[in-house]
Amino acid sequence: VHSEGNLSSVKKLGFEEIQSLLKDELETVEHSLKKHARSSVAVIPIISGYLSNGGGKRLRPILVLTTARLCGYSGEDDITHSAVVEYIHAATLLHDDVVDEADVRRGIPSANAKWGNEYSVLVGDFLFAKSFSLMADHSPPGVVQAISEATRFLAEGEILELVHSADIDLTEKDYLNLIFRKTGALIKACCQVGGLLGGTCGEVTGRQMAALETYGENIGIAFQIIDDLLDFTADEKTLGKPVGQDLIEGHVTLPVIHAFANADETERKFMTETVKSRELTARRIGSIIELINKYDSISYGNSMAENYINKAVGELDCFPPNEYLDALKGLADYIINREM
Ligand code: FPP
Ligand code: MG
Repeated sequence: VHSEGNLSSVKKLGFEEIQSLLKDELETVEHSLKKHARSSVAVIPIISGYLSNGGGKRLRPILVLTTARLCGYSGEDDITHSAVVEYIHAATLLHDDVVDEADVRRGIPSANAKWGNEYSVLVGDFLFAKSFSLMADHSPPGVVQAISEATRFLAEGEILELVHSADIDLTEKDYLNLIFRKTGALIKACCQVGGLLGGTCGEVTGRQMAALETYGENIGIAFQIIDDLLDFTADEKTLGKPVGQDLIEGHVTLPVIHAFANADETERKFMTETVKSRELTARRIGSIIELINKYDSISYGNSMAENYINKAVGELDCFPPNEYLDALKGLADYIINREM
């Protein structure tokens, strides 16, 4: 059954249909993730396995596999590269939870809460190093450049977030720049890698490569916008972390930026104090959510995410229609309709 979303054009696969389309490959990716995390230092696979089994969606491997197949790739290096991007993602989460001093990830204690900051940072380094050694052995030209640029953006994004910690004056433009770096860049790189792998089996045109890049960048930005909306709208159980966690950690995101831009003087004063306060009470978070609702900031964010999704999908016309194209359209739809 193909779901009908609100986006234009033909068939779109639901997330579960995409997972079953790639069932064998995704299983092989799981083996690959286990295999390459082996180490004579026993604690390394324990910590990386703990995070890996913690309920991630494997969105980045799915993107590598789908774009590679869309571009006619038929070898086995799409599996290896799925491990590469998933390891980089895992490394950033390990490091991010240290930076954010987070206790919980996806509903269970974060690795830093369980083993401490030192282990989280160092196992993250191991996975990061492993992903580059896999590329040294398996990557066609262009891949190392795309991935290393993405990881530089990741680091810049995370540092920018630190620079703008508790900064209520963060503009929408700065925010979009930040989330491109923090999330969009790696998702874009996953699609580039698929295209580059496809290019080793047949022709992938310049227009198609550019389309993959635009698609990845735009769904990546939309993904983070939705993440930031869910932080205020989802309940703690679905989200696997407390509501308003971003504010507690000092992250000023789109709903807050939008509400602040529309707020009156008294409300702005309250918001400024709240964002800066070290101990955020549930009552204060509740008041911020009221302002976000008052100024329709969630709908604003949703329609902005939808614009990015439409831009992403609009690029895909240069590919022949097949199930992998349907999967990319379905993924775009999933990203804005997801509830966690
Ligand atoms: C999660 O954001 C954080 C990121 C997506 C980027 C993290 C990047 C780094 C730690 C720097 C680079 C590190 C390496 C190894 C290249 P979030 O805190 O908004 O999301 P969350 O709610 O899932 O924690
Ligand atoms: Mg975090």
